[in-house]
Amino acid sequence: MLVSDNLSVNSQGHLTIGGADTIELAAQYGTPLYVMDEELIRKTCRRFKDSIDKYYGGNGLPHYASKAFSCMEMCRVIADEGLGLDAVSIGELYTAKKAGFPMEKVGFHGNNKTNEELEFAVECGVGQIIVDNISEMKRLEAIAAAKNVRPTIMLRIKPGIDAHTHDFVKTGQIDSKFGFALETGEALEAVKEAISCENLDLDGLHCHIGSQIFDIAPFEEAAKVMLGFIAQIKNELGYEIKGLNLGGGFGIKYLEKDDPSPFETYMERVSAVVKSQCESLGIAVPYIHIEPGRSIAAPAGMTLYTVGARKEIPNIRTYVSVDGGMADSPRYILYGSEYEAVVANKADQERSERVTIAGKCCESGDLIGENMPLQHAESGDIIAVLATGAYNYSMSSNYNRLQKPAVVFVKNGESRIVVKRETLDDIIRNDI
Ligand code: LLP
Repeated sequence: MLVSDNLSVNSQGHLTIGGADTIELAAQYGTPLYVMDEELIRKTCRRFKDSIDKYYGGNGLPHYASKAFSCMEMCRVIADEGLGLDAVSIGELYTAKKAGFPMEKVGFHGNNKTNEELEFAVECGVGQIIVDNISEMKRLEAIAAAKNVRPTIMLRIKPGIDAHTHDFVKTGQIDSKFGFALETGEALEAVKEAISCENLDLDGLHCHIGSQIFDIAPFEEAAKVMLGFIAQIKNELGYEIKGLNLGGGFGIKYLEKDDPSPFETYMERVSAVVKSQCESLGIAVPYIHIEPGRSIAAPAGMTLYTVGARKEIPNIRTYVSVDGGMADSPRYILYGSEYEAVVANKADQERSERVTIAGKCCESGDLIGENMPLQHAESGDIIAVLATGAYNYSMSSNYNRLQKPAVVFVKNGESRIVVKRETLDDIIRNDI
């Protein structure tokens, strides 16, 4: 029933995460509450780092995609585990910098970076700026020239791969707002332009084909296409591309029926493709970056809610309403994403009903999920929605002027707050 092995049920029948009793957490910190298992985050970081070391012999680094879940403490944990970071806005850069993250291990992304963002990235000395389009390249060149620096860049390439995932999170196909297209010759023109920019150091290429992808084949395909392009650049322009960022997108288990491949298998298969392609194309093996976001953050997290109203509509459905909703858990209303849920104080009982878990926002689509197997839930019970560590807190809003929940890290049964719950004064903080 439980999607992750850091979850368990204690002798009181309470759900535990990382050894901490969720009912005690709810009582101590209030609900809604995001809970993240720090040990699982660290363990996953190590698995990524060890497998990239194993298959690329130290010539690779995972960059945690901080859009999945960013706060200062998360940046500190990622830094402590020796990973790099993918940031996609000045806000994510600022969070990392304030947390003391080594900025030379940061890749800065975005399809529409502002001059303010580019200047900040240059001032921070980020490791790479992943340039998305020609106008950005020219603006960055001017900023770098004015500061008399030569930032390292990668170019974001659309490899033309169709990843089998939700349309909204696909990014590698030609009809995408991200990056330069290969098929049209746009990418090669961009490489020429970048080489001609005196104040930019073109070091690598980047691609990212989508998110929540279970198949390894599209990743292998993307690596092949990108290496073919690196060889073309060498042959036609005599220029050596040294690095290749293969993006993120590894699928995770949200539901019992989900069966993603372990990412060690991804790393093994993709690295074999990289090495054999490099050999047959006669190019040096590039250094490799990958950018896992969801796979590091999601399985480590859960959201705790208190049940309020229960409405049984005969022959139609039962609504169990909780004290949060689309403001803290927007993925159902956005993508129809499904989750497993558990009544955390009845976790030793059977999930005997199927219910719709509804939020408290003022619209009918505000649901956590429909037709969800659940223990009999009554007012005052605590519901845990599982695997919510990615793209929930980071995409939360103040819709209906709800306060954003706190985030708590647990480790070996101990808990500590890492993001405070918003207060009512936070809600009006910027109002004049
Ligand atoms: N690198 C780049 C350039 C990306 O655009 C993304 C995600 C990642 C890495 C990390 O992908 P991950 O390993 O987390 O799949 N809000 C959506 C997901 C959007 C993903 C955007 N880009 C969701 O909740 O499913």
